[in-house]
Amino acid sequence: MIDPGFLDLGYLLSAGLFIFGLKMLGHPRTAPRGNQYGMMGMATAIITTVVKLEVETGLLGWKYILGGVLLGSLIGYVMAARVEMTGMPELVALFNGFGGAASALVALSEALERIGIGISDPANGIPADPLTLWVIWIAIGMSALVGWMTLTGSILAMLKLKGGISIFGKWIKTPTWGPPWLNPIKVACGLSVFVLIYLSAVNPENTDYVWYIVGLSSLLGIMLVLPIGGADMPVVVSLLNSLSGIAAAFTGFIIGNSVLIIAGSLVGASGLILTFIMCKAMNRRLIDVLFKTFGGGGEKQSLTRTKVGSDPDEVAMLADGAQSVIIVPGYGMAVSQSQHQVKEFGDLMEEMFDTDVKYAIHPVAGRMPGHMNVLLAEANVPYDKLIEMDEINPEFPDCDLCLIIGANDTINPVARSGEGPLAGMPIMDCDKARVVVIIKRSLSVGYAGVDNDLFYEDKTMMLFGDGKDMMTKLNAAMKEL
Ligand code: TAP
Repeated sequence: MIDPGFLDLGYLLSAGLFIFGLKMLGHPRTAPRGNQYGMMGMATAIITTVVKLEVETGLLGWKYILGGVLLGSLIGYVMAARVEMTGMPELVALFNGFGGAASALVALSEALERIGIGISDPANGIPADPLTLWVIWIAIGMSALVGWMTLTGSILAMLKLKGGISIFGKWIKTPTWGPPWLNPIKVACGLSVFVLIYLSAVNPENTDYVWYIVGLSSLLGIMLVLPIGGADMPVVVSLLNSLSGIAAAFTGFIIGNSVLIIAGSLVGASGLILTFIMCKAMNRRLIDVLFKTFGGGGEKQSLTRTKVGSDPDEVAMLADGAQSVIIVPGYGMAVSQSQHQVKEFGDLMEEMFDTDVKYAIHPVAGRMPGHMNVLLAEANVPYDKLIEMDEINPEFPDCDLCLIIGANDTINPVARSGEGPLAGMPIMDCDKARVVVIIKRSLSVGYAGVDNDLFYEDKTMMLFGDGKDMMTKLNAAMKEL
């Protein structure tokens, strides 16, 4: 017979793996190993929990546990295998929601069980100590609040990243809507949930309160994400990620599982740090993102101006002899999967003209944190060539050629004006380079829906077309120089 206390070493091991894994995620070179450590940590935690339950109770429903593990693994595998690289941000948002849902469901089952048998029933192994009971009941309420809120908020965030949903072949756009009067309703809703948690604790026989908590928390998640428009989605996605961790930590308290508390706290804390990094990148305060709608609901601007496009031969001639080139990737590079062609262009410049080539990374370029870093790392661009915005911006005035591929909001000078959805967001100072070349399919707006003056400047050459196609043609033209 194994001593259950001995099994706690499994939790210690898995917590250690999580912490080392998280540390390794801090650098692109070590990140893949960090991911593997995280996976090993999770597998260790699951096995320890199952064995511990069997040893302590001997009542484990193995067929349900195995069925759940197999079904969950199959669904996860199919989703991850089928997802396109451009769909990754949506999948990440959905996984945040699943994390919240798992915690919320555990909280719901604990609440209903305790209501059924009385919240302080020593005969059923539930301690009668009033303080412990209150702590547990508050943890159940908080896990429900944060969990349901994360689920509905993440589903809406996923739909916003996708842009809409196709129902019976009809494309329905995800709305962005946030009149100022919604804010007091959000606050009232949040406070009501706290009151309901208290009422459900003092009236344990009444299940209605629990269902009200579920309903209001779900509504709160929708109300929180619905007004987020323009370019502020990165902040919300990382906040939801943090909330899924916080919900898990509360659930750890409820079921007395230490590794869940540790893992949940790690996710909650790192997600919160990321949220503040994103706020800094957007030059926003978190409170403003949550309670202020930037740009009146993010309606896309309609374009009236035109600009004649250039061709790859012309751009290749311009690149001939350039001493410094800064490549600025954006979401369009992810869509066109042109990172290998972009790297080839950088290599050609270095080989042919001994050019100083750098890659400028905006913190919110693409649709998920580190999106550009991942793609360029996949194309084997050396890490020391990826330069963060604050560091690269002073270099633009001395740059001979700035090649922008599929970026729009992150290079839009209108952000400096203090008006509209991009107001105040720090941008790449591409407009200060001597010559600017932009590869995109049209003059259309970016994620925030704002027209970009940079397209129409005299020093800007537009190469209209798919990113991969255009980069391939540009590289071919370079080789013919
Ligand atoms: P965006 O402003 O989204 O613009 C991307 C541009 O890529 C579009 O204007 C589009 O123009 C072009 N494009 C699309 N497909 C293309 C293709 N196949 N080939 C070439 N170009 C293509 O990009 P950005 O500058 O990276 O800014 C990111 C935006 O997303 C920010 O507003 C940010 O706040 C938001 N956001 C970021 C995140 C994170 S965490 N990074 C999460 C959610 C939202 P055409 O249609 O004319 O080709």
